[in-house]
This record gives sequence, C-alpha cells and structure tokens, in this order.
Amino acid sequence: VAQEIVVVTGGARGIGLAICRRVTQAGARAVIVDMDGTRAEAAAAEVGSGAVAMPCDVTNVGQVRDLLKQVEATCGTCTALVSNVGWTPDKPFLDTTLEEQARIIDVNYAGSLHVTRAFLPHMKAASFGRIVYVSSDAARVGVAGEAVYAGAKAALIGFAKSLAVEVARNGITVNVVCPGSTDTPLLNDLFTPEQIAKRIKIHPMRRLAQPEDVASAVNYFISDEAGFVTGQVISVSGGMLRVG
Ligand SMILES: NC(=O)c1ccc[n+]([C@@H]2O[C@H](COP(=O)([O-])OP(=O)(O)OC[C@H]3O[C@@H](n4cnc5c(N)ncnc54)[C@H](O)[C@@H]3O)[C@@H](O)[C@H]2O)c1
Repeated sequence: VAQEIVVVTGGARGIGLAICRRVTQAGARAVIVDMDGTRAEAAAAEVGSGAVAMPCDVTNVGQVRDLLKQVEATCGTCTALVSNVGWTPDKPFLDTTLEEQARIIDVNYAGSLHVTRAFLPHMKAASFGRIVYVSSDAARVGVAGEAVYAGAKAALIGFAKSLAVEVARNGITVNVVCPGSTDTPLLNDLFTPEQIAKRIKIHPMRRLAQPEDVASAVNYFISDEAGFVTGQVISVSGGMLRVG
C-alpha cells in the first residue's frame, strides 16, 4: 500500500488524530508527532497497535532532525507525510504582537518546511512519497481576526504547488487539504458556543466539519488511487467554500 508509514504532525488530537485513525484502519502505520508528548502517548494508545507516538515541536529544527532519526530507526522510511500542525489566536492584525506573528508563521508555515526538508530526501531516494499539507479555507478567502494565519496558510499552498512540480518525476505527490470550520479543540478554544452556532447557521449543510470528514480527504491523497493527482487543493467545508 502507498501509505505504509504515515507521519502525521499534530496527530494527538482533532483533525490529526482522525487522520491517524483513518490511515491505520486502511492498514498503515501512523507516527503520531506532537509537541504534547503525553497527549501523543494517549492518542497512540487510543488508535491502537498501528500507531506510535513521537514527541516533537515541528518549529524546532533540531527536534525535527531527531524525529527523522527516530522514525527511520523504529519504523523505516516514511512513505507519507501529513503536515497538519496549525494554530492561530483570533484577533485583529494590529492587536497581534510581533511574538505572536512570528509564532503563527513558524507553526503554520516554517514548521511544514522543516518536516518536509527532513523527510523528502528519503522519499526521493525511494522514488516514492506522498505529502499532504493541511492548510485552511482562511487562506483561500481571508478571515477577519486571522490575517497572519491566513497569509501563512496561503504561503503553504504556494509552496506545495511549487514542490509538487519539483518532485513529480521522483514519484512523489504533493497536495493540500483545506478544512472549513471543523469541530476540534482548537475551534472550541477560539470561539464561544454562540459564535460557533452562528457559523453553523451560514453553512449550506448546517453543521461543522467533523475531523473524520477532513481525514477522508487526506486519506484519498495518500492512497494508491491518487497517484496521478498532484499540486491540488481541496476544501472540505460542506459547500461553504466553492472555488474554481
Ligand atoms: N479546526 C478548524 O476549524 C480548522 C479549520 C481550518 C484549518 N484547520 C487546520 O487544521 C489543522 C489541525 O487543526 P485542529 O483543529 O485539529 O487543531 P488542534 O489544536 O485541535 O490540534 C493540533 C495538535 O497539534 C499540536 N501542535 C501544535 N503546535 C505544534 C508544534 N509546533 N509541533 C508539534 N505539534 C504541535 C497540538 O499539541 C495539538 O495536539 C491545523 O493546521 C489547523 O490550522 C483547522
């Protein structure tokens, strides 16, 4: 199978955890990478024997290098990388401090570059690989209160499309999944139940995405069926975002 060893960053909860569940159900081994080591261990125990926890902050280049070594030593070559880590506060641009700005860019953009830089050479050597970035519909339409985040997630899309062309002849595909509002701890930390209810009201399907909805799209991109699909961006938002 294409997705033998799937490294999922931010895999300990929310969308990342659903991706780990989905790929192990499909027969793959999931490496749950998360900066919260305790949460990652709990997630691995929940997902079961197909999962292994590896604590790592993807914004720390040294830790990412160690992660690569640990994955190689315990699991073998990573066949699929799902760079899912993301975070944002909800505040207007001018209220965002320089420290927060740097962190948002690090978590949502630079971290994805760090993990790609680590795992890509081995995929190239194996002439096979699947890379999926979890971006956001915020990158495609813009969202008040998430300007730096939307910009960083848009940068991720530009990077993914370019990398897709660079590595196409190495048997590696690179695609992007953009979740809409998804029922995860991140969303529930950011917004009040009233704000969430308002969002649901304007959704064509009158519900939030569930993490499993997003995980299915990720699983498609890393499956054998998607071998000729690269450089693509798909929104999983119940019809909320409709772009050509
Ligand atoms: N929930 C939504 O509505 C929504 C919408 C659009 C896009 N997204 C994107 O989907 C992805 C997953 O979001 P979620 O809602 O499941 O988030 P979440 O906060 O519920 O889970 C994210 C996980 O990533 C881990 N993490 C955070 N920073 C990390 C780092 N630097 N290194 C390693 N691990 C780190 C956290 O510990 C956490 O376990 C993110 O990229 C997010 O931006 C989410």
